[in-house]
Amino acid sequence: MASARPFARLRAGPRSSPVELWCEDALTGLPRRLPRGSVDVVVTSPPYNRRVAYRSYSDDRPRAEYLAWVRDLGAAVAGVLSDRGSFFLNVGGSPSDPWFPYDVAREVGRTFVLQNVIHWVKSIAIDRRAAGRAAGLDRDLALGHYKPLVSERYLHGALEYIFQFSRRGDVPLDRLAIGVPYQDKSNVARWRSGGSDRRCRGNTWFLPYPTIQRARRDRPHPATFPPELPEWCFRLHGVSRVRRAVDPFVGIGASAVAAAGLGIPFTGFEVDRGYLATTVQRLRSEGVARDPRPVPVAPGRARPTRTAARPSSRSRGDSSS
Ligand SMILES: C[S@@+](CC[C@H](N)C(=O)[O-])C[C@H]1O[C@@H](n2cnc3c(N)ncnc32)[C@H](O)[C@@H]1O
Repeated sequence: MASARPFARLRAGPRSSPVELWCEDALTGLPRRLPRGSVDVVVTSPPYNRRVAYRSYSDDRPRAEYLAWVRDLGAAVAGVLSDRGSFFLNVGGSPSDPWFPYDVAREVGRTFVLQNVIHWVKSIAIDRRAAGRAAGLDRDLALGHYKPLVSERYLHGALEYIFQFSRRGDVPLDRLAIGVPYQDKSNVARWRSGGSDRRCRGNTWFLPYPTIQRARRDRPHPATFPPELPEWCFRLHGVSRVRRAVDPFVGIGASAVAAAGLGIPFTGFEVDRGYLATTVQRLRSEGVARDPRPVPVAPGRARPTRTAARPSSRSRGDSSS
């Protein structure tokens, strides 16, 4: 039977915003814990069905079953998202399965309109000559991290997608909230947003993982996104228009940390108690919690969820630069 109490209920961030974390299957938890239409932004990265070695979740289903589950996820999100809400869905492919992100997007597209496709660039090489003299580079740059791939046919995967879905494809966005300064200042007066020295960043977001020394200690989860990713999604939607944000697959809490940092009330779901315990720890430190009051629940040992956990050599976390 589902617990009536969250794993943790606490206040975090500079504005002491409420955070609620449920150790529960998101597809049943979303309609059970949240009133219809009460959520303005959902930002999440689901398991990609790539045999990632999570602590307890078994990331390995037949493709058709997985895609049917994604369809159900879309319907569950639709039940709680407000009329003018945004559903940001981060999905990555693998070099040998390039259709995967589009297959996932198609399933969610049965319920929502695909409003924007954002490319999350994790690593990029910038040639000094292409950057131009104004950039002032004295050498070519290679920035960020990727998972090295030994192959004669495939390139390293240095990119994932962030699909922004909405009900009708007409949600207004605060594009300049994550805008960038004009390189050529004569554009400041030329364009409509003139005067602010900011232009829309566009649909390529360079968000590298921070360099880490020891993966087990510094990133105790095999498939995270950096907190800047959900932060930019919240800012793009418009922070003042977010009454509540939700991550159905909270992992070790990047989205919770980002929401707390911006003063946005947040609800997260995760089937693994160990990951949720790490999320609470992060909210206490990175989330600059002023008044953390987690419900005292012992982290406990990982319990298998769908099927028994299987060791896997595959990981979604990137490692090289
Ligand atoms: C890709 S990870 C999310 C990582 C997260 N974005 C972060 O940065 O830490 C997906 C997570 O979903 C969890 N999970 C899998 N199935 C779930 C379900 N039905 N409901 C809730 N969580 C689930 C897994 O344990 C895993 O931690």
